[in-house]
Amino acid sequence: MILLGIETSCDETAAAIVEDGIAVKSSIVASQMAQHAPYGGVVPELAAREHVRNIMPVVAAALVQGGVSVVDLDGIAVTCKPGLVPALLVGLSFAQGIAAAGSLPIVGVNHVLGHIYSCFMAEPELLDSERGFPILALVVSGGHTSLILIRADGTASVLGGTLDDAAGEAFDKAAKILDLGYPGGPVIERLAEKGDPHAIRFPRGLTGEGGKPMRAEDRFNFSFSGLKTSLLYRVRDRHRTPDTTADIAAGYQAAVVEVLVRKTMDAADAFEAPTVLACGGVACNGRLRSDLEQAAAAANRRVVIAPPAYCTDNAAMIAGIGYHYLEKGEIVDPHIGVGARLEDDVGELPFAPHARRRKTGRTDDPILS
Ligand code: KG4
Ligand code: ZN
Repeated sequence: MILLGIETSCDETAAAIVEDGIAVKSSIVASQMAQHAPYGGVVPELAAREHVRNIMPVVAAALVQGGVSVVDLDGIAVTCKPGLVPALLVGLSFAQGIAAAGSLPIVGVNHVLGHIYSCFMAEPELLDSERGFPILALVVSGGHTSLILIRADGTASVLGGTLDDAAGEAFDKAAKILDLGYPGGPVIERLAEKGDPHAIRFPRGLTGEGGKPMRAEDRFNFSFSGLKTSLLYRVRDRHRTPDTTADIAAGYQAAVVEVLVRKTMDAADAFEAPTVLACGGVACNGRLRSDLEQAAAAANRRVVIAPPAYCTDNAAMIAGIGYHYLEKGEIVDPHIGVGARLEDDVGELPFAPHARRRKTGRTDDPILS
């Protein structure tokens, strides 16, 4: 089954051709980073305009590089939420246009579940058995910081998320305060290499640190606004040299990474998840990758972190997971809704791959038979 994936939820216009949810024939990403850089963050209205400009050539390039034309497609998968609504609408309308013209089935994909599926594309044996479930996934990007539990029956639940800024946003805002440019994550990571992570201690939000009580319901939630304020005061109140700026970057990165790793491992313990996944733009961060790998090894859990090329927004992950929905013949919704927040989805979300296994059954699988 050959699918065209389309992704326009934030500041990347992306299209990809993927066969059977796994073989990537092409994956084109047009980044708008340069357009948003002067503003220190993504401007939704500007993003939508850029998507309108880019969507046609990006989809055309994906088809050409994938060696297919619209008549060869078996369906279309498009990000329908969460994200910037004006941006989402561009990809969705374009996808519906192609679907109508080619009489193709179309499926709406949750962007965050798409990010999680990028780990399944990197490590396809996760698709092959129900061993290793439940899976605990950390999704960390400029727009999301979520802990999601994926069960062997194909359902997913949001365990927690950020109460204010996303982890990537925390990096972006810090870089803005320090005048380092946009996006903040990569610059702060580079600068942190020259600094001492122990020189300045920044607060670890919602960890109960420093005697600050934490509500039980915030155990798997995140908060980065206190960290950002603390940086703001540090920069305002004290003189900075290049050395102290590097120490600030190292200390700040250490605070973000420590909270992400601690909460992820705590959730993996609480739900007895033998497998831990990490994905999204912030999962490019070398310190996060190595600390999570170390913590998972110490706890005897398997860890899969999406390769950097699949951490940031792309359409291969959207076409990848979309295949599982279309193949099951479910969730093919011609009136796809768009929504801004993952937290708007309460209850169980459909994370398809293992639902498919259970439904078809495989007599040669010792767990299923
Ligand atoms: O997944 P993504 O491309 O877009 C969203 O869906 O938001 O993530 C972009 C975010 C930005 O906030 C950027 O600062 C952050 O990922 N990021 C990083 C690194 N590379 C990108 N954060 C920390 N360390 C990095 N190396
Ligand atoms: Zn994303």
